[in-house]
Amino acid sequence: MDPSERRRNVVFVVGTRPEAIKTAPIIRALRDQPWARCRLIFTAQHRDLARPIFDFFDVRPDVDLDVMRPGQSLADLSNRLVVALHAALSREEPDCVVAQGDTTTVLAAALASYMLGTPFAHVEAGLRTYRLDAPYPEEANRVAASHLASLHFAPTSAARSNLLREGIPPESIHMTGNTGIDALFMAADREVPLQGLDPDSRFVLVTVHRRENLGEPLTRICEGIRKLHDRHPDVEFLWPVHPNPGVEPVVRAALGGLDRVRLISPLEYGPFVTAMKRAAFILSDSGGVQEEATALRTPVLVLRDVSEREEAVHCGVAKLVGDDPAAILHEGTRRLAEPRQPARTTDATSPFGDGRAAARIATILHRKLVVEAPAAVAV
Ligand code: UD1
Ligand code: UDP
Repeated sequence: MDPSERRRNVVFVVGTRPEAIKTAPIIRALRDQPWARCRLIFTAQHRDLARPIFDFFDVRPDVDLDVMRPGQSLADLSNRLVVALHAALSREEPDCVVAQGDTTTVLAAALASYMLGTPFAHVEAGLRTYRLDAPYPEEANRVAASHLASLHFAPTSAARSNLLREGIPPESIHMTGNTGIDALFMAADREVPLQGLDPDSRFVLVTVHRRENLGEPLTRICEGIRKLHDRHPDVEFLWPVHPNPGVEPVVRAALGGLDRVRLISPLEYGPFVTAMKRAAFILSDSGGVQEEATALRTPVLVLRDVSEREEAVHCGVAKLVGDDPAAILHEGTRRLAEPRQPARTTDATSPFGDGRAAARIATILHRKLVVEAPAAVAV
């Protein structure tokens, strides 16, 4: 067979909910391309949260490594991931491994690819706070992944600049936009109802999961939400509680008795997008939610001291409030006093992307793996 006609093995590695959301558009863009053989390794770092995402986007894992353990430590998780991914990738013989973001799955995928001498392509490359403690451990994961990767898909010009400053070769960096915006547009196109919520109710949507917020900071965040709740008797709070065992007991102890604070299981992606569109504003420490809220133009108060998504702050949608109860009350009250513009569901001018990032990534992968390297595997 002419080597240029050989299908290239592109192996995606996904472990958690946000990776599933942000990788699905790329798999969908690539899987019908005649030159590519797409395979999806699901590490199941998130066993429950990621599965419904695959159903939503009609993407099926080919391999399930089943690594999640309740209350997993970073050391045990990292150990299981590197060993399992090294074995799985050896079997797959990839031309290129693709992973998105900064979770422990992504660092392990980059390490295992490096150990096998396989090119690693990093999606959402170049996000930085330059603080190894915030977000923890994501800042270290993404810095290390950048230096193990040979191809970098930077979502924004700020991310590209960060990579250049760290000495990453310019020709290996491609600014594509964030694939999370592609996913959001796909979901926003199909309005999914939000069960059990009065359609006329005014509510604040809350999510918290960052490791640096567990413990005392989470207690302070709950205190701020209680103050906001007490000040605004017409407002409800909808909080899909993250399954990390460090979250729920603290939140239930602090807010469980309040009628207008609804602590619910994590929402599937469709209803969650509906909730982001309808919320008066969002309180969150999530990375993806900052990007989505910006595209929807739903105000978001970020429960962190620093963010690698400064574009959200610069365009006026996001404000950092940390875990300070007084700031949560003050800024929350301000957001509730402002008229809420209707959510924009397909805002192609969002700083995080125009909804076409996955198509760009597919084109670049084709160029690197087929046009520029017809017989070999170099990226
Ligand atoms: C992980 C990522 C974080 C990412 C977040 C997205 C790491 C170290 N952390 O944080 O970067 O922003 O996912 O949500 O990579 N659990 C379940 N079911 C699930 C998922 C989690 O029960 O589907 C519970 C388990 O007890 C698990 C614990 O949550 O041990 C923590 O999961 P883990 O992936 O280690 O950390 P997250 O806080 O979810
Ligand atoms: N999300 C969801 N259901 C929820 C909460 C979040 O589908 O109940 C989605 C959200 O739209 C975003 C992603 O999960 O796309 C963010 O995941 P998370 O906050 O867990 O991780 P991060 O983005 O901070 O890494």
